[in-house]
Amino acid sequence: MRSKLMVGNWKMNGSLADNASLVSELLAGMAGVHCRAAVCVPTAYLAQLQNLLSGSSIELGAQDVSAHDFGPYTGEVSARMLQDFAVRYCIVGHSERRMHHAESDVLVAAKAQRALAAGITPIVCLGESLAEREAGQTEAVVKRQLAAVIHANGHCISEIVVAYEPLWAIGTGLTATPDQAQQLHAVLRAQLQAASAHADRVSILYGGSMTAATAAQLLAQPDVDGGLIGGAALKASEFLSMLAMASR
Ligand code: PGA
Repeated sequence: MRSKLMVGNWKMNGSLADNASLVSELLAGMAGVHCRAAVCVPTAYLAQLQNLLSGSSIELGAQDVSAHDFGPYTGEVSARMLQDFAVRYCIVGHSERRMHHAESDVLVAAKAQRALAAGITPIVCLGESLAEREAGQTEAVVKRQLAAVIHANGHCISEIVVAYEPLWAIGTGLTATPDQAQQLHAVLRAQLQAASAHADRVSILYGGSMTAATAAQLLAQPDVDGGLIGGAALKASEFLSMLAMASR
C-alpha cells in the first residue's frame, strides 16, 4: 500500500521572511499528519529550508536539476549541489520548464537520471495541453513523455515519482475531475507495470489547481497517490487541510 505523498511546489515565490512564517505555521499544524509531505522550494532558499525543516517530518525538494554533472553551465544547479542540502525530491519536466525553457522529453529523462544517480527522487511531471486534449491526444502525449523517462532509466523506474498535471488545469482553477485523473493515472500505472515488476511502488500524484475543496475526491481514486500543489501550498491552512485529507 502506497502512503499518500503531498508535495507543495512553491514555484518562484517566497522571501526569507515569508518562508519562515509559512514554515512555522505548517510545523505548528503537523501533529495529526501521517501522510508523506514535502515542499519544493526555489534553489536560493534551499539552505534556509534545510535549516527550517530540520528534525520535522516535512521533506525538502528542489524544482529542477541540471542534466550535467558539473562544469561550464552558467546558472545550472547540479544534483550533487542539491545533495549538499539533503534534498529528498526534485521536480523535473514541469510544464512551465517544458514551455518556457523548451525542455524536451529527452532532456527531462536525463534530468531524472541525474537525480536518481544522486539518490534524489525525481518527481517527473507529465501532462497534455488543452489543444492536445481536444484533439484526443491526451494518452498519446503522456505516454510519450513517460516512455522517454522509462527508456533512459530502465530498472530504476520504480524509484521515481510521477505527477500527472494537465496543463489546462495548472494555475487556472480548473481541476481534472476525479474520473479524468483516475483514467490517466491508470494508463500511466499500466505503462510503468509493463516496464518494471516493481511499478506498484511508484506514487502517481495529481497536480493542477488541487485545493482543499477538490483534494478529498481526487485522493479517493485508487491510482491517485497524492498531489503536487502550487498556489494552494502557499497558504498554510489550505495545505494543512490537504495533508489532513491525505492522512485519512
Ligand atoms: P497549481 O500548480 O496547483 O497552482 O495549479 C500545480 C503545479 O504547477 O505544480
